[in-house]
Amino acid sequence: MQTLVPLQEPLRDQLQVGLGHKGKESRLIRSATQKARSSQYYQIPRERKVKKFVGRRDILAKINTIFTPVRSDSQQYPTSLALIGMGGIGKTQIVLEYCHQAHFVEKHFTSVFWVNAHSKDAVINSLVRIADNLGIQASDVGNADQKVNFVLETWTNWHSPYLVIYDNFDDPEFQDIQTFIPPFGPGAILLTSRLRGAVDVVDHSIDISVMAEDEAVDLLTSRSGLQRPATGSPDEADGKEVAWALECLPLALDQAGAYIRSSSGNVSFKVFLDHFE
Ligand SMILES: Nc1ncnc2c1ncn2[C@@H]1O[C@H](COP(=O)(O)OP(=O)(O)OP(=O)(O)O)[C@@H](O)[C@H]1O
Ligand SMILES: [Mg+2]
Repeated sequence: MQTLVPLQEPLRDQLQVGLGHKGKESRLIRSATQKARSSQYYQIPRERKVKKFVGRRDILAKINTIFTPVRSDSQQYPTSLALIGMGGIGKTQIVLEYCHQAHFVEKHFTSVFWVNAHSKDAVINSLVRIADNLGIQASDVGNADQKVNFVLETWTNWHSPYLVIYDNFDDPEFQDIQTFIPPFGPGAILLTSRLRGAVDVVDHSIDISVMAEDEAVDLLTSRSGLQRPATGSPDEADGKEVAWALECLPLALDQAGAYIRSSSGNVSFKVFLDHFE
């Protein structure tokens, strides 16, 4: 986790004065918002990003096309997109890779915020953490609701294109996620979900399916530490067979690769298949 450019002065100094004074406090939150919006922010769970991201170029290109119109001067309403697919299919990894590319390589989004959306409480905790990172300390505006409002208002007034990730919106009981999505501002909202119904809360959606055969063999070989087998070789045929046995599901390929790697060369794709069947 890392904030690239922290605020120069903590907003605490302004907010402390407002404690206990409702009208004044909300004025102070507004002024804190004005200040926070001129900072840059990049915070994603980097420790979850795989060392070697494989494939998925077509999906990354689609995301880019959907979000490319987001500009600070022209965008009134955030553009929202959901990646939908079963558990372990690679949604979060695609998003982590997209964040990296969109921020560091293409520099399309100067600021990226990460929200854990697996439940309402998780969203609130994430927004409180973002408020704290933007400079509002627990002792300043103590209550979580105020911090959530602060973050939503800050996003609405953000000075340049920003990206907000809502990862793992998977709980069908969690109905009102929209109340935590900024209604205005030059934002892009990228949500991941196992639920088909998530399409109802976004403008666009992409169905994420299992990997293509080539991608699956790439993931398997890179994770297992084996050489990529030569095209048309018996080893490659075995690699493809392993990929299909695991239905080209990234999570399963990752685990099989880790198992092969831990055997220190004793388990080839062929041996793995014999064990598997
Ligand atoms: N493109 C990829 N390159 C390398 N490894 C990948 C890739 N996609 C997925 N993986 C591997 O598969 C695992 C599961 O992927 P991920 O966590 O992104 O799935 P998910 O769809 O977000 O699942 P869930 O719905 O449970 O959150 C990752 O931890 C990683 O090891
Ligand atoms: Mg996920």
